[in-house]
Amino acid sequence: MPKNTISDILNNQHTGEVSNLQGWVRTFRSNRFIALNDGSCQSSIQCVVNFQDFSEDLLRRITTGSSISVNGEIVVSIGGGQSVEVKVNSIDILGDCPPDVYPIQPKRHSLEFLREKAHLRMRTSTFSAVMRIRHTAAFSVHDFFNQNGFFNLNTPIITASDAEGAGELFRVTTLPFDETPRKEDGTVDYNYDFFEKPTNLTVSGQLEGELGAMALGKIYTFGPTFRAENSNTTRHLSEFWMIEPEMAFHDLADNMDLAENLCKFMIKSVLEKSKDDLNILDTRLLNEEKSKPKDQRSELSLIEKLNFVLDNQFIRCSYTEAIEILMRSKPNKKGKFKFPITEWGVDLQSEHERYLVEKHFKSPVILFDYPVNIKAFYMRLNEDGKTVRAMDVLFPGIGEIAGGSQREERHDVLVKKMQDVGIDPEHLDWYLDSRKFGTCVHSGFGLGFERMVQFVTGMANIRDVIPFPRTPGNAEF
Ligand code: 4AD
Ligand code: MG
Repeated sequence: MPKNTISDILNNQHTGEVSNLQGWVRTFRSNRFIALNDGSCQSSIQCVVNFQDFSEDLLRRITTGSSISVNGEIVVSIGGGQSVEVKVNSIDILGDCPPDVYPIQPKRHSLEFLREKAHLRMRTSTFSAVMRIRHTAAFSVHDFFNQNGFFNLNTPIITASDAEGAGELFRVTTLPFDETPRKEDGTVDYNYDFFEKPTNLTVSGQLEGELGAMALGKIYTFGPTFRAENSNTTRHLSEFWMIEPEMAFHDLADNMDLAENLCKFMIKSVLEKSKDDLNILDTRLLNEEKSKPKDQRSELSLIEKLNFVLDNQFIRCSYTEAIEILMRSKPNKKGKFKFPITEWGVDLQSEHERYLVEKHFKSPVILFDYPVNIKAFYMRLNEDGKTVRAMDVLFPGIGEIAGGSQREERHDVLVKKMQDVGIDPEHLDWYLDSRKFGTCVHSGFGLGFERMVQFVTGMANIRDVIPFPRTPGNAEF
């Protein structure tokens, strides 16, 4: 007997066929209607049971969460709500699910409650929708770069460098804590460590990515990234996934175009390929909005918001212009910003980014040409000597979704910039070699994958768009 997934049965004409279906029971009503879900799609299929044909004992074991195998005929449904249903011939209980202790009941659970049950939450319609959309989005990344002549490059996860120079590193070591080998001066003797030097989990694949671009032209990485940053916010994870393209012979303008095209491609793919899942999340968000005061409700639904981003060009605005806008802004004048903008040169906080995107421009914005002091050492210095060719892509509801730059390709300038921020050029001699041997204008950026998934799913908390979130104080599951 053919084994079919529910997605296959609902999408293809199988009426009249006898099929085998295996899945988990969502609900069992009136000893007659089983809503069976196998995770292959948002919809459950209705399995109609003639209860006289089955023992009471078996019927009692068909409970929410139990896994069953059903043989039956696919027939046109007489009831509303579904096109086809299964006329059940036989049922096997594969795995019982005791209803008195199973936490996922067919009712609304709060996201906070489900976060504590992350090992089971993917069985709910909300989280299965998010995870399927996450898949669609990830697939679209590879599609996009493949179609555009980029090569996928796997950069190391264990590394001895701190690409961002921010010191938010998770140390990787096999040294014993209690008897750490030390040198005479009391410092740790890393000669005894596994790699014979201090190593950490990567905060970015960029530096190695640049080396790939200097050989293959256009590359991208899509890998896990680790930051021991103590930020307990709705937009930070300690372990997240980053997409980092790097392109030789591309300047900042090319870089901005690529970032905009990638974002739009990902959003378009989800709109086209994850319709049912998006609809579920759209409705979820609509209900959530209804419980807010009228003036705080979003003007656009989730799907409208995604289409809005597709239909409009991202605004490009220099940091200097942005500071002028912020200085003149109402919240700044009225002292509403937690960090008031008083002068050129300050770093922008997410309240400022969100003001620009949500209130001022009402559109995604790419800010560029930031002050040299607030950006990483590898960004190309402008002729003014004060700003660098940096860019941040800002999205409504999210703030910074991607950050990147044109890279400093001049050997002498780069060495000087490293020294200015206290990075030993010798430590990164392999990186500097790319500027010694056939250097060229090149650029790249990093897109936070979970932040994009947040945007397309409308989930407010980043912990709800990754299966098992890692955050300060939390590495459960
Ligand atoms: O702005 P970031 O730190 O840039 C870099 O790491 C560069 N080396 C990228 C490059 O040019 N190749 O990080 C890039 C993006 C951010 O814009 C944000 O979307 C995401 O990564 N991100 C995080 N996402 C979740 N949790 C965190 N703790 C994140 N930190 C950064
Ligand atoms: Mg950044």
